[in-house]
Amino acid sequence: MTQDIATVRRHRWHAADSYDEATGRLQRRNAALVAGLHPDPGAVRRALDVGCGTGALTEELLTRLPTAAHVTGLDVSADMLHHARARTGEQGAGRLEFRHGSLLDPEAVTGAFDAVFSNAALHWMYPRYDDCFTRLRHLLAPDGLLCAATAGRSAATDDFDRRVGARVHGLLGQDTADDFTRRRLTCVELTVVAGRNGLVVEDVFLVERRAAVSVPAYVTWWLASGGPWQADPPRRERAVELLQGALGGPDGEIELVHASVLAVLRRPVGRD
Ligand SMILES: C[S@@+](CC[C@H](N)C(=O)[O-])C[C@H]1O[C@@H](n2cnc3c(N)ncnc32)[C@H](O)[C@@H]1O
Repeated sequence: MTQDIATVRRHRWHAADSYDEATGRLQRRNAALVAGLHPDPGAVRRALDVGCGTGALTEELLTRLPTAAHVTGLDVSADMLHHARARTGEQGAGRLEFRHGSLLDPEAVTGAFDAVFSNAALHWMYPRYDDCFTRLRHLLAPDGLLCAATAGRSAATDDFDRRVGARVHGLLGQDTADDFTRRRLTCVELTVVAGRNGLVVEDVFLVERRAAVSVPAYVTWWLASGGPWQADPPRRERAVELLQGALGGPDGEIELVHASVLAVLRRPVGRD
């Protein structure tokens, strides 16, 4: 972990302890969607879960892939891996290993996997998307598949980011250059960046969800999902208080727009 650690430090996972509670239903639904993207799970023998976090997708893979399949979970956060180990416990015995490190570090994990999965992790590698997709290609065996969901962009997410951004701008001392909108990809953008890094798109689509959620639930989810700050955050209680105040108070409601781009990408045979 060289250059990448700088990026990652700016998005520390302060809230590994509350991540599952805060993101629960959405996290499990997306994990199931990603695991279900693979057209032939019975043929998978070696799988990688990139940015496995607390193990929602890893657990799903252990259930869906054949018992002969070996699964590796990779994450840059030791705290998140601690929860993933506890979650997968006996189910993973003999067929699961975890690696602590960054996808962008070529030494953190080596190929060749016949399937790579990832949920809600690739957008944290912005702006290094070219490096990210090149690494993913190298980790795949020829003809191997990448099945992934990452932050999606649509007219509705642009509007949502603008609405929330206007209210929280500068509140926590965050760097405004780190507008989350920049991390988002449209289906076309994902196709372009994957293509120029040697991956062929088999399928790509956007899932957009809208829900009215309470301000406290949204703030908890937001903080547990990475937080809006770049430098040292204020204490969590203070951050909750500030964000809740800006977004309508503890009794308020917010029209949440959540979008993911889901994709199945293939590493063609005959490319290094
Ligand atoms: C929003 S969480 C998603 C966790 C899990 N995949 C899920 O579905 O709940 C994003 C995860 O990506 C990890 N992550 C971020 N950048 C990473 C990198 N460069 N390499 C490996 N993991 C990374 C974070 O530590 C975090 O655990």
